[in-house]
Amino acid sequence: MSHANPLDNKAQAWSALFSEPMSDLVQRYTASVFFDQRLWRADIEGSLAHAEMLAAQGILSADDHAAIVRGMAQIMAEIESGAFEWKLALEDVHLNIEARLTQLVGNAGKRLHTGRSRNDQVATDVRLWLRGEIDAIDALLVALQRALVDTASRHVDQILPGFTHLQVAQPVSFGHHLLAYVEMFARDAERLADVRRRVNRLPLGAAALAGTSYPLDRERVARTLGFEAVCQNSLDAVSDRDFAIEFTAAATLCMVHVSRLSEELILWMSQAFGFIDLPDRFCTGSSIMPQKKNPDVPELARGKTGRVVGHLMALVTLMKGQPLAYNKDNQEDKEPLFDTVDTLKDTLRIFAELVAGLTVRGEAMERAALKGYATATDLADYLVKKGLPFRDAHETVAHAVKTAIEQGVDLSGLSLPALQAFHPTIGEDVYAVLSLRGSLDARQVLGGTAPQQVRLQIDRHRARLGG
Ligand code: ARG
Repeated sequence: MSHANPLDNKAQAWSALFSEPMSDLVQRYTASVFFDQRLWRADIEGSLAHAEMLAAQGILSADDHAAIVRGMAQIMAEIESGAFEWKLALEDVHLNIEARLTQLVGNAGKRLHTGRSRNDQVATDVRLWLRGEIDAIDALLVALQRALVDTASRHVDQILPGFTHLQVAQPVSFGHHLLAYVEMFARDAERLADVRRRVNRLPLGAAALAGTSYPLDRERVARTLGFEAVCQNSLDAVSDRDFAIEFTAAATLCMVHVSRLSEELILWMSQAFGFIDLPDRFCTGSSIMPQKKNPDVPELARGKTGRVVGHLMALVTLMKGQPLAYNKDNQEDKEPLFDTVDTLKDTLRIFAELVAGLTVRGEAMERAALKGYATATDLADYLVKKGLPFRDAHETVAHAVKTAIEQGVDLSGLSLPALQAFHPTIGEDVYAVLSLRGSLDARQVLGGTAPQQVRLQIDRHRARLGG
């Protein structure tokens, strides 16, 4: 058994064709091991499934297969304990692990790469790894939605000025407002589940680009690794990164939702609004202004959204105009993808905590809702119910609002005779309509802000989210 390991010296790893070693700079420039080593578990899992299939097909002996299994177990332990020595000279996670395997088990290690290329290997690794991350993100999205639903359930009857154009529009339930974000994160989870189906396909067996002459059983490998399907075209299998782009697009949208929530939290916490307080552990002070408590976490989340948008642009641009099949460009898919996953997971985790911890200043919210003639639409609707066409009612109420502004009072501050001057059908019952609470209660339509409707939605979400 020859123990000389071609991977000990990478200049020789490629072949005897190479007559000079790489410069340090080129080595550093082309290496990916310092970021792709995070794929190690998927790489080993993929290799074990490949080896098992090679043995089942009679391409690899049972002894060699056993040696590979033994060697990989040791490598796993070494990596987990931190004892594994990652070598830049061995370029990437794949060659590092394979070289160590050969060191440990000799020729069996050198036989592992039969019928395989790093091109189908890396595509398999990334898909396996990303599938696990999607599942982790899904759990975080559930936790964030639950936190929003719980906080919403405590504030169903809390009145908040609803805005359009950031001008007071109509009163809404604060719980209803929070549930709008639950809808967004629920769609994000749906999108990720859909992306997962296309992530969960097996490239292995495509080899470098054309398939291989060994009688591989790709379906078997797919079953072992839990892939739903096998990539059906070898050229596409090694070069496709659509799944990474789709994932990053879904992550981008999710971060966009977080950024919208962040912006609202920042506004609400400002002195001008004073609607909420964030727990101190999510804020920082100023090194010069002793009175400051800044909403750093939402601001950072808003900022980090930009970086994920950037990763999406990087990946789309990476693939644009790439000829078939594998090109080294594809090594550049990893850092944007990894950072997208890291950023999204941290953000979702921190927001679940933050949402659970926010305190509401109910009076300030309600006071703000009283300021902007938020029940003007309700008065118009009242007149419509008395028989006026809506457009006429709209005009009549505009006059009433103008008068109220001049007198410096809310619509409900106008006397009954004053209101009747705008229209004789107005009666005492108008004051119930003009109250914030009356306005809320009236919006009984499905999806509306009436507390009863909001409670129905909370029940629906709880049933959907479980736990
Ligand atoms: N580190 C490489 C990557 O991430 C692995 C595939 C290398 N394939 C090749 N033909 N050079 O894409």
